[in-house]
Amino acid sequence: MIHEPVLLKEIIALLNLKEGDNAIDATLDGGGHAKAMFESIKPSGKILGIDQDSEMVKKMNSIKNLVAVTGNFRDIGEIASRNNFKNPKAILFDLGLSRWHLEKSGRGFSFQKPDEPILMQFDAGSQKNAAIILNAYPETELAEIFKKFGEVRAPHQIAEKIVFARKRKRIYSVGDLLAILGIKNKKSLAKIFQALRIAVNDELAALEEAIQGGFRILVPGGKLAVISYHSLEDRVVKNFFKSEVAKGNAENILKKPLAPALEEISKNPSARSAKLRVLQKI
Ligand SMILES: C[S@@+](CC[C@H](N)C(=O)[O-])C[C@H]1O[C@@H](n2cnc3c(N)ncnc32)[C@H](O)[C@@H]1O
Repeated sequence: MIHEPVLLKEIIALLNLKEGDNAIDATLDGGGHAKAMFESIKPSGKILGIDQDSEMVKKMNSIKNLVAVTGNFRDIGEIASRNNFKNPKAILFDLGLSRWHLEKSGRGFSFQKPDEPILMQFDAGSQKNAAIILNAYPETELAEIFKKFGEVRAPHQIAEKIVFARKRKRIYSVGDLLAILGIKNKKSLAKIFQALRIAVNDELAALEEAIQGGFRILVPGGKLAVISYHSLEDRVVKNFFKSEVAKGNAENILKKPLAPALEEISKNPSARSAKLRVLQKI
């Protein structure tokens, strides 16, 4: 099962990489984008691929001219310097999770997998997981997570239900949570699961640090491309781009964020909420 790279042709055209350039794919996953970027810069250009999930990185280690590293993209500057990776002309962030996470990881990312343990970490070795949050966080903190990271309706009611239920029985699986919620609406469930995933992986803070760090190590004229999948991520990206443009440090390459064409969405429905923004460093 391969994750279909989103907005691939558009990204390759916008990045406009040339033979011998170096580039970073900060969300390597199955390497869909990284392999296409390599086609533009081969044979002498190099790619640094980062993924928080070591399962992904292991699969990618055999690709020529790709340095694949397990790590959090929030540490992008340090990862690049540790690997002696210099002068990136482009950095790509394709946020969120891949099909593999939803369908094969067994970590409870999907509300359609009731038998899986509810963990939701990208980094399988991480100490924090969704079960810990659900079983241990105070009610007010749970409500805050659902409100802030899921923009969920009635966050306090959901938090109250969880706290009531966990007094009788610990929450271990996706099915345990579904039984407590008693919600059938897929959109609402998706928002609740999104909120938990963001909290487990500290996704918004990591994203902010990552794009700041990435922008810092780009060469002048280099491009930072970010594909986001929901409004909370997009807001972080939009605000950062706006502030760098206002400071005179960068230019927005696209007047408006780019969305996939209908044809791509019909072939790959998970691309439907994608939004691409590209910033060029001056
Ligand atoms: C949507 S997938 C990327 C797909 C890839 N562009 C492709 O086409 O094959 C997102 C990847 O980002 C990784 N990821 C999410 N948060 C991360 C973080 N903070 N640091 C590093 N990798 C992260 C996930 O593990 C996942 O593999």
